[in-house]
Amino acid sequence: MDYEVSGLKKLVIYYSFEGNTKLIAETIADTLQADVLQLIPKKEIQSKGFMKYFWGGKQVMMKKKPELYPLDKAPQDYDVIFIGTPVWAWTFAPPIYTLFETTEIADKKVALFSCNRGQNGKTFENMKKELYKSDIIGQIEFFDPLTNNKEENIQKAAAWAESIIKAI
Ligand SMILES: Cc1cc2nc3c(=O)[nH]c(=O)nc-3n(C[C@H](O)[C@H](O)[C@H](O)COP(=O)(O)O)c2cc1C
Repeated sequence: MDYEVSGLKKLVIYYSFEGNTKLIAETIADTLQADVLQLIPKKEIQSKGFMKYFWGGKQVMMKKKPELYPLDKAPQDYDVIFIGTPVWAWTFAPPIYTLFETTEIADKKVALFSCNRGQNGKTFENMKKELYKSDIIGQIEFFDPLTNNKEENIQKAAAWAESIIKAI
């Protein structure tokens, strides 16, 4: 099936700190020929070591909304939006919170994806609360796909993306 011919405008929005969510986002975008909007905080966590958990966890706890570089795509221009996040402290990462606070996402078909280390917590539940003006049409999680069964996870992401579009 040629997804361009389906006439739907598709956007993949994501934040990724260590590349897992980026891998899945790019797989979905390649599969569907969708546009991509990467959220990039102006100030990123400096530590890739154990301190990252304290820094990131604290950001979540304090409901921080880190300032992002200007978005180069407008979600309102699209019909179907995929939103991907790493799981931080059992919920979505702070840059996604900034997105929700600063950008209207209404009357869209939205599919959610997350990358985690086995504890998705309230990630999807909390995203759905923020996206109450849209229709949530799917959700899926991946266990650190860069370092665990990478090829399988790429296949899983591609198949899921196709199934979402076919079901519309
Ligand atoms: C600050 C921080 C908090 C995290 N909290 C969780 C968590 O609550 N549950 C979980 O399963 N994984 C947690 N992780 C692991 C990441 O969700 C996981 O490694 C994910 O694949 C990273 O995605 P990324 O490479 O796109 O940043 C946490 C990682 C960080 C840095």
